[in-house]
Amino acid sequence: LVGGTPAVPVPAPLVEPGAPITSLTILFGSQTGNGEGVAADLEARLKAWGYSVELADMADYDPREIVNERLLFVIVSTHGEGQPPLPAEKLHGYLYAETAPRLEHLKFAVFALGDSSYKHFCKAGKDFDAFLQRLGASRVLDRVDADADFEEAAAAWIDAVLGCCRAIIGDTGIERPLEAEPVDHAVAKSGYGKTHPYPAAVLRNVNLNGEGSAKETRHIEIDLGDSGLSYEPGDALGVYPKNDPAYVEALLAALQADGYSEVTLGKETLSLREAFYKHLDITGLSRVLVEKYAELCDSRVLAGLLADPDPARLEGYLWGRQIIDLVEDFPIQGISPQTFVNVLRRLPPRLYSIASSMKAHPGQVHLTVGAVRYHAHGRNREGVCSTYLAGRIGPGERLAIFVQPNKHFRLPEDPETPLIMVGPGTGIAPFRGFVEEREVTGARGRNWLYFGDQRRATDYLYREEWEDKLRRGVLTRLDLAFSRDQERKVYVQTRMLENAREMYAWLEEGACFYVCGDASRMAQDVHRALLAIVMQEGGRTQEQAEEYLEAMAASRRYLRDVY
Ligand code: 2AM
Repeated sequence: LVGGTPAVPVPAPLVEPGAPITSLTILFGSQTGNGEGVAADLEARLKAWGYSVELADMADYDPREIVNERLLFVIVSTHGEGQPPLPAEKLHGYLYAETAPRLEHLKFAVFALGDSSYKHFCKAGKDFDAFLQRLGASRVLDRVDADADFEEAAAAWIDAVLGCCRAIIGDTGIERPLEAEPVDHAVAKSGYGKTHPYPAAVLRNVNLNGEGSAKETRHIEIDLGDSGLSYEPGDALGVYPKNDPAYVEALLAALQADGYSEVTLGKETLSLREAFYKHLDITGLSRVLVEKYAELCDSRVLAGLLADPDPARLEGYLWGRQIIDLVEDFPIQGISPQTFVNVLRRLPPRLYSIASSMKAHPGQVHLTVGAVRYHAHGRNREGVCSTYLAGRIGPGERLAIFVQPNKHFRLPEDPETPLIMVGPGTGIAPFRGFVEEREVTGARGRNWLYFGDQRRATDYLYREEWEDKLRRGVLTRLDLAFSRDQERKVYVQTRMLENAREMYAWLEEGACFYVCGDASRMAQDVHRALLAIVMQEGGRTQEQAEEYLEAMAASRRYLRDVY
């Protein structure tokens, strides 16, 4: 989308290639903060051992600096269809381009974060690893591809990086690590975080859709109690789900396993049923999982699927299926519970964009969650966390949560700055928080919201709140796109194009443009609409309009939270 290669000549390196290496750089590119966390842990560890470390977010890093690096550790996550996260796009594009400089004097290693339930597992990390090698840099550690439960892999990688620094830079003379500097996260202050979630009470859990809707979107209010947790509008809330008990029983039956059998997870011993219910991802079918399972299974059909030179065959099998289908389709006679458990990954937490302002709702956090339910291959399927939140957790019950700060999706500092917000479906969530925050802080900037969903009668999420805010002038403009209320589809970008002149005037006055929601199509269509508006109203060529949007992104006036 935005990004690409700056069309500037490559400067000659400032460093003397033969000189000894005395320092190192850590670069991270991550959207959710996981990569940033690993980078901060690595920095703290290396500094404690006396190494001179530069830590940078790829979003703030000038790609032309890379020729000056000698020892580089890259931590990068992967999004959607294998793209790098937005903050990494610029460097990714720079290293990919034919004009990228040679990097013969650079040593590097890559830690790739990903989620094996997606097709292009760790693709961005694989790209960085391959680009750096192609440019002549030498790899000092094999790339690590870490899944959603990345913590153990990250700790081992940090050990390995420390070993590399010893070998390459040499000992610093420090015999024991110095006191590590505290990592400054909102999370660290409260003591609750991803590895130590807070058991929060649910206050309210209601369906926002009316009867007859094709969708179920829950509004959930959660009590932060005495957790000390805090958040800013734009942040995400991490939620640890539990699996559906009915699915747990069906999987136990498919395995012909006794739910009381004891299994070991890390240092803990517990029953297979409990492990399935609370701790393991027992639904997400992925290539990584099938590869592990196939090592235990003597099915020639399964081996054939994996070995097929056309990846579409395995993808075709994976589509719409879950782990229970694999177990039924390719049973392993007499597989022990522990052996099966070893194939599975930990149940990862899910992240949801926070839908409230803490200033408007002290001590609370709100979510807007779409329940994922579909039918495929003769079975009803459910999204693990969304249906846990929709149907299996009610007022008074406890939910394991943590705050995941998202500094790439923040309100502008200047309260006078106008906002344009585009959030169809559950993409509306952060904008409820934004508008609430602007109201309680008395920010005077104008607020323009685009919302869309299937039908006005049943799917107009937070209707009363928006109408009230519009009446009171908190919202300056509200444009709605109900896609299925008429013959032809009307989407948020349809409304944007209808308002091209005024949209452009707002942009020219310095408005910040925000998009939240579906990454695969909506965000790209909205980007194209924006491009068209800048071309048409600003009398610009496509290239000039792209530069206009890139400049907006660089000055943090074009921000996206897409998934
Ligand atoms: P549809 O399902 O009727 O196609 C929230 O899901 C809203 O986003 C729905 O109205 C949905 O319409 C719409 N939507 C689907 N694809 C879209 C796209 N590419 N761009 C914008 N909105 C889209």
